[in-house]
Order: sequence, then C-alpha cells, then structure tokens
Amino acid sequence: MRTMPTPANLNITPRDRRFGRGAATPRLWHGNRVEATAIYNALSTTFPAGEAFFVESVRKFREGAPPKLAEEIKAFTTQEAIHSREHDAFNKRAEESGYDLSKLEARVAKRLAITLDRPPIVNVAATMALEHFTAIIAHELLANPNHLAGAEQETADLWRWHAVEEIEHKGVAYDTWLYATHHWTRWKRWKVKAKLMLYVTRNFVVDRTAGSLELMRQDGVTGLRAWSLLLWYLWVHPGMFRKIGRAWLSFFMPGFHPWNEDDRNLLSAYERIAGGTGATRKVRRAA
Ligand SMILES: [Fe+2]
Ligand SMILES: [Fe+2]
Repeated sequence: MRTMPTPANLNITPRDRRFGRGAATPRLWHGNRVEATAIYNALSTTFPAGEAFFVESVRKFREGAPPKLAEEIKAFTTQEAIHSREHDAFNKRAEESGYDLSKLEARVAKRLAITLDRPPIVNVAATMALEHFTAIIAHELLANPNHLAGAEQETADLWRWHAVEEIEHKGVAYDTWLYATHHWTRWKRWKVKAKLMLYVTRNFVVDRTAGSLELMRQDGVTGLRAWSLLLWYLWVHPGMFRKIGRAWLSFFMPGFHPWNEDDRNLLSAYERIAGGTGATRKVRRAA
C-alpha cells in the first residue's frame, strides 16, 4: 500500500454558514422516518462537546509544529468551532420540536470525562481515530444520495456542509499524531492507534445505537420494532455502517493515511452547487 500524505495544494476553507435560523425544523425532519431522524439527531448530540474536545486535543500540538501543519491546525479548529455552533443550534431545534436530549448529552459528557486525566497524546490519538470515522461517514454521505433522500432541505444542507469540511480536514489530526509520535517505533504507533480505534468504535456503535433507541422511544417506537427499524437502516439500507466497513478496516493497514483515498471530487461537486449560492464565505480564525 502506498503512503500518500496530505496533498500539498489542499486548501482547508472554513465556510461560515448558518442553518435553520428563524424557522422550526420539523420533528421528523428525515423523510418523516423515526429511525432515520433518530440516528442523525443522536449523532448531532455528540458534536458540540465532541468537536470542542477534538479542537482542544489537536491545538495542544500546534506550537512547534511545522508551519504547514500549524496552519492546517488553525483551519481545522476554525471549522470544528463552527460545526459545534451549528450543531448546537440544530440540537436546540430538535429540543424545540419535543425531543429530550439530556440522556444522550449525559452519555457524551461521561465519555469525555474519561479524557480529562489522560495524557495529551492519548487524546490526540482518540481524536485521530474519531476523525477517520467522521471522514468515512462524510464520504459515504456525500457519495451516496440515498442517505439524505427525503430529508428536509435545510437540514440536509447542514449535514452536507459538515461532511464536506470533515473530508477537507481529514488529514489534520492524523498528521498531528504522526508529528507528535515521530520518535516512536512504527510498532508502538500502530499498537496505540489500533487500540484507540477499537475502543472508540465500540463506544461509538454502542452509544449511538442506545441514543437512537432512546429518541425512537420518545416517538413511541420501542422493543423489537425499534431494533429492527434501526438495524435495517444502519446495516442494510441505506446501510451506512455496512458501507463504511472497508474504509474503517483500511485504518489498520500498514502505510495508512486518510489521504490515500483522495476524494476531493466530492468537494468540487459540492462547490459547484453551494458555490453558486454565495454560501462559501471564507473566515480567518477560530471562534
Ligand atoms: Fe466537524
Ligand atoms: Fe472533524
């Protein structure tokens, strides 16, 4: 397997957009489907605190980093800060539509509390693993229109915008990790990153499944019916978890780098649509 580092001409461009302000979001915004709405809402609940954690973890390594990486870290933190803001606003609209997110938020807070007494290198490793996860979900979301089919326009736009920026900055946490561990042996680096990936994947799948089932319960769907709707949606059709399986596995291969898969065609496809609306204003620094 070939190692292709982050492309030299990659531009990480924060797009300071706002979504859904001034209008209510329908409760079942995703095609009136309980399970589809639940999984995206459960994911969104993790972003405000989760992405703030990513920012803090990566920012610790900015000082002394090579200038190109330091610049990319700055753009990464700006993008993530804006994502946190927009998903916080989205989560408030979900609450206004009647959902109680407190159990889901408590679960995220509990997971993040574990990171408080961990060394910075462990937190950057967890961030790097979760960023790969986010990037492969983002890729699949943009590459396969089935995932957002039937979703309310403004909310689908929010998810596409977020997906684009996740792809754009997918190498930053990884490059930060490589920089921070350059004195480690390859074996030690692989062992730590593999351990972290297995750990965050387990928590991700368990927590998002539990969170989705809780939101479905609030819509009156429980038991076997809830499980079968959710498992079908995640693993069969449109089958996000099944479809990212290969890309997830690639993380464990020797020579892995997020940019071994150059998917900038998805970014240009997005820009062709959003660029025409003037929606891609650049911003300079983190909030
Ligand atoms: Fe993000
Ligand atoms: Fe990210």
